Amino acid sequence: MKTALQTTQIDSKKEPGALLAPVPMTGNLPPRVADTFDHEYRGAMQSLLETRQPMDWIGLHQFLGSREDREAGAKFVTRRLSMSPDPDRVVLSHSTQAILTVLCGALVGMNGVLAVEELTYPAMAKFAKQMGFNLVGVKLDEHGMLPDAFEKVCKEHKPRALYTLPTLQNPTTGILGLERRKNIVAIARKHGVVIFEDDIYSLLPEDMPPPLAELAPDITYYILGTSKSIGAGLKAAYLVTPRETDPARLFWPGSGMTYWMIAPANAGVATELIHNGGADRIISAVRDETRARQKMVRETLEGACFRTSPECLHVWMEVPANRGLSDFVEDCKRRGAEVGPATTFLIAGGEAPHRIRFGTGKARDRTMLQRGLDAIAGACFS
Ligand SMILES: Cc1ncc(COP(=O)(O)O)c(C=O)c1O
Repeated sequence: MKTALQTTQIDSKKEPGALLAPVPMTGNLPPRVADTFDHEYRGAMQSLLETRQPMDWIGLHQFLGSREDREAGAKFVTRRLSMSPDPDRVVLSHSTQAILTVLCGALVGMNGVLAVEELTYPAMAKFAKQMGFNLVGVKLDEHGMLPDAFEKVCKEHKPRALYTLPTLQNPTTGILGLERRKNIVAIARKHGVVIFEDDIYSLLPEDMPPPLAELAPDITYYILGTSKSIGAGLKAAYLVTPRETDPARLFWPGSGMTYWMIAPANAGVATELIHNGGADRIISAVRDETRARQKMVRETLEGACFRTSPECLHVWMEVPANRGLSDFVEDCKRRGAEVGPATTFLIAGGEAPHRIRFGTGKARDRTMLQRGLDAIAGACFS
């Protein structure tokens, strides 16, 4: 089987008749920015190894993350929150996924109801199945969740919590406006629903509306992961809880499961990058590369109907009305692009729109992305 690197080499040599693997575009990872990332990551790791004694750093359990790591988390979230939270409200974890499983287990629970956007992050379906809670979908428009639909769900299904992505929603790319954000938190508060806000796509765009956690810090569990802006394998994620007592109640050893903990080396690198400005430089490089790739999308798919934004990692595209959804996905693959059908994101029942989602970041370089986009254009316009 060809590796991604071999595929790229064949690409750039333009070997005639080479049989190329389809470009992987189902995921929405941040694009490679190797020059910046490698330099910053190496520098952070070297500085940590020079200034810390590995035995003391790695040789001990750090159930809560060190104080320094949690303080760095409190600083990191100020990219979106206007004030740095008390580090006692911050939980440092190895991933957004892990934080969500703990929150769902503790605050939704077996047979409880979690409200979700009608199209959303598919992993939530797996968590629900594994933990035995129920999902109820809330209708969306192009901006995001509809307040009336959320209120209806609250009245009819009495959810314990809402999981939401108000900024660059996955998969629809919606950005919820400020007024709607206010309406959503007012409804949640009225019905006693806590909010799990996943803001993972918010660091690439600039000038986004404030998170729900800014409007309702008392009922919002705010999650800011790094895997969509810094590196998919870094994964360090920060949770800001409403109260200082929440981390101990929900996460700490003795009061919960501990598989959510971050490895000290990963925590240390994240902390170093936050303090030395490396995190911002990587995010800025990822933003620039994402913008360049989005420009390629606009140019190649001109005339097709799709939604995205310049700093979004994915594209939500309408499938031509005369084509079946799965046929279209297969056609893209035959022509050289792996894309995801809308059905993947429909996890709480309802009808899937006639759309696909594809990511621009996983293609190793722009040459490979162009090949994928050409394949999608071929399927679209043939
Ligand atoms: C909405 C959303 N949240 C979280 C994640 C995963 O985050 P992490 O790598 O921090 O677990 C993804 C990955 O696709 C995602 O789309």
